[in-house]
Amino acid sequence: MNRENNTNYLVIALPSGKLLKPSIRLFERIGIDLKGGKEISRKLTFFDQREKVKFIITRAKDNPTYVECGAADIGIVGEDVLLEEKKDVYRLLDLKFGKCKMVVAALEGGKQEKYYKNNGHRLKVATKYPHITGKYFKEKGIYVELIKLYGSVELAPQVGLADMIVDIVSTGRTLEENKLTIIDEIIPLSAQLIVNRISYKTKHKRVIGLSQDIKNFISLESDKIAEW
Ligand code: PRP
Repeated sequence: MNRENNTNYLVIALPSGKLLKPSIRLFERIGIDLKGGKEISRKLTFFDQREKVKFIITRAKDNPTYVECGAADIGIVGEDVLLEEKKDVYRLLDLKFGKCKMVVAALEGGKQEKYYKNNGHRLKVATKYPHITGKYFKEKGIYVELIKLYGSVELAPQVGLADMIVDIVSTGRTLEENKLTIIDEIIPLSAQLIVNRISYKTKHKRVIGLSQDIKNFISLESDKIAEW
């Protein structure tokens, strides 16, 4: 199927990684058949022919790009990605799962002031989120050197690459196992439902119908969903 005959389908982009399983569970619980999704291996598209839904699996960070460009009508995306990537999409719904927070962490505990005061050298901060990190330190009036990494950020302070990190924390296990302590919490995060601006108009009835079904489900099961 190519882009042209997407008009018959509602195209939903699911993120690979930690949010995939809860995303699949959500659609199953509102009655959309994701049989194909359970055997996701290298196959990146599958269909519910009865409901005329096409699912695509994207890298988590690429998800809003597919939605912004209209390759997908709807996406599920971590709020961290939305804040960092700044794509032109509508946010429809907070899905209440995938809860975590963006934090600043360093090797030793203690008050922020200890880290943020000028010690005669510019602080080095390692992160996968340079925009969020830059904005945070700019608002605090602290001039830092940003070190962009693509993963395993918790390693950076241990090997002297950075003084601190900005990253997401979910269970806290990764920080703990790498002897890092939170010195500030920047923002709480959760999975979000996003929609392409044009699809919101051209497929309005389907988009709103789906969003309402999800909303109803969330309001009934909000406690359980938070644990997904
Ligand atoms: C994320 C995040 C932390 C970890 C936090 O990394 O960047 O490293 O999860 O989870 P926790 O608090 O439950 O331990 P991810 O697993 O996405 O891998 P990455 O570091 O390679 O990006």
